[in-house]
Amino acid sequence: MRLVLLMSLVCVMALTACQRNAPAPAAAAPVVAKPAPAPKAPEPAMPARTHDESSYAEPDVVRISNLTLDLAVDFDKKQLAGSATLDLAWHDLQPHPLVLDTRDLAISKIEGNDGTDTWVPLTYELAPRDPIFGSKLTINSARQMRQVRITYATSPQASGLQWLEPGMTEGKQLPFMFSQSEAIHARSWIPLQDTPGVRFSYSAHITTPPSVMALMSADNNPAAVRNGNYSFRMEQAVPSYLLAIAAGDLVFRRISDRSGVWSEPEMAEKAKAEFADTEKMIQTTEGLYGPYRWTRYDLLVLPPSFPFGGMENPRLTFATPTVIVGDKSLVSLVAHELAHSWSGNLVTNASWKDIWLNEGFTTYVQSRITEALYGQDVAEMERVIDQSELAREIANDDIKPADQVLILPPLTGRDPDDGLSDIAYTKGAWFLQFLEQRFGRPTFDAFLRGYFDHFAFHSISSDDFESWMRANLLPKDPKAVTDAELHAWLHEPGIPVFAVRAASERFNAVDVARKAWLDGGALPASAATSKWMTQEWIRFLEGMPETLTAAQVAALDSGFHFNGTPNGEIAMRWYPLAVRSNYTAARPGMAAFLQKIGRRKLIIPIYEALVKTQDGLAFAKGVFEKAKPGYHPITTASVEELIAKAKPAH
Ligand code: BES
Ligand code: ZN
Repeated sequence: MRLVLLMSLVCVMALTACQRNAPAPAAAAPVVAKPAPAPKAPEPAMPARTHDESSYAEPDVVRISNLTLDLAVDFDKKQLAGSATLDLAWHDLQPHPLVLDTRDLAISKIEGNDGTDTWVPLTYELAPRDPIFGSKLTINSARQMRQVRITYATSPQASGLQWLEPGMTEGKQLPFMFSQSEAIHARSWIPLQDTPGVRFSYSAHITTPPSVMALMSADNNPAAVRNGNYSFRMEQAVPSYLLAIAAGDLVFRRISDRSGVWSEPEMAEKAKAEFADTEKMIQTTEGLYGPYRWTRYDLLVLPPSFPFGGMENPRLTFATPTVIVGDKSLVSLVAHELAHSWSGNLVTNASWKDIWLNEGFTTYVQSRITEALYGQDVAEMERVIDQSELAREIANDDIKPADQVLILPPLTGRDPDDGLSDIAYTKGAWFLQFLEQRFGRPTFDAFLRGYFDHFAFHSISSDDFESWMRANLLPKDPKAVTDAELHAWLHEPGIPVFAVRAASERFNAVDVARKAWLDGGALPASAATSKWMTQEWIRFLEGMPETLTAAQVAALDSGFHFNGTPNGEIAMRWYPLAVRSNYTAARPGMAAFLQKIGRRKLIIPIYEALVKTQDGLAFAKGVFEKAKPGYHPITTASVEELIAKAKPAH
């Protein structure tokens, strides 16, 4: 009895493992799961998929194994148009409907191919549009299709695409377009299973006007000839949120044999200089966690409207130009996106409630890279900034207690972008730092390296991580952590009282200088401030009281020229302080900043400060109206929501 139970359990586990790793089935082969290869070591099978409540797809029935895109980039219509062909791996022989995710796609035709290489039209239903999840697409067929081809066009308002007129670019000559698929925006430009639990390889044929260069999260060729006709292949299986495309006036600059930077020509040399340490970062991470498995690592510098700091699109990180400040002080962004090549792109969160597996692990690895390249003091300053920010958000009730746990309940009905907070990033990384402190660096490094190797190219849940940790880390030193401590980190809100807070001596010096000035002394001398990194300016501003006197803000501005600063990290702290202190002289610089930059993190705090008063709200609305045509749909949505919810006090 026990043996039978065990055997069937092994079969189920082997089948699951086999299905997850199955290559695209050959066109006419019978649809049966291949037997699992004989196990080499008594390793546990890969965990079964957990349901993803952010997708309509049914990966237990069928999985996309390969995607073939054939798309034309039409800047006049602000549209991608063409076809997506999905190769399908079904889990049994019965015909089932194929359910896909879409948002705002105009579908003109769907055809199927049952393996005999004849294409037949298929009937389908496109459900009404859900504001968060888009339209469920159900494709019917009496026979099981091995391939399905959807002919479609995107909407000019596609949530995952931004279309820029030439005037909104640096060079002002050519238009620009780019995608941002994470978390659930891939469905707005490709009909597919939009869940991080499904991975597939892809090929793409992309046409553009001949003067425009196109790039994807795939095998970009640094020597590609610009001719408007581009082909890409991504052999490694990736989830939908890592599909990416960009097109514009893009040139390449080499950093090393396997890395370089793409940008508009005007930015190219500055970008190359700022990101010159990229190869060193790759080598550092390889030394810690094993080989970089994605061949090239290139960066693409986007226009300032890019709504994020960075996006870890495989082989081609998308980056905001706002980190190009001339002194490499913000390149931990590159460390972060590069780190995702292990945490996230290799070992992927199975659904968005598990996003701390992507972002918390990445923030931890980022800090290790920063420490190795720029010193412990820099890594510490960044940890202090992150931890103080999280403490503020918790104290201000910005994150409700139920969302302050690492292992979240299902996000049923919620937009995964809303569920994202500094809990995933900062508490996630802090938990790993805690484990590192308790088990010691050598043990923890070996554990993490083994984790990346074991789960490479798989999507896993928080529970899978917890089981792996209990089996592979805790036994190394059974007394290192208690169950109560683990429970506090994983399942309780807030930061555990026993967590060791980061501390920075360089920040202590900044605090002393600020206090001396607030107490009536002189502004910090340029002998000191000329050596400050961006992080020290951040600390200087963040420690200011809620409001300053008119004389104080004016003195700060004339001493340090904060108005009009090109450094967004400084701007996002200076302008709110100016608003709170009623320093209207900051308004022209602030308006210019809000109209140029679309990175959400940098501009939202300024809008938040403005909408607190009637007068500020009116100013914010005026600026937003002018800025909106240049904002990305993701940024527009955030600012609109903020303005709609505003309750100005006076
Ligand atoms: N993957 C994220 C960006 C993201 C997360 C987009 C969730 C959509 C949904 C990226 O790696 C990231 O964390 N970017 C940060 C960079 C920072 C922490 C260095 C950003 O954009 O601010
Ligand atoms: Zn990240």
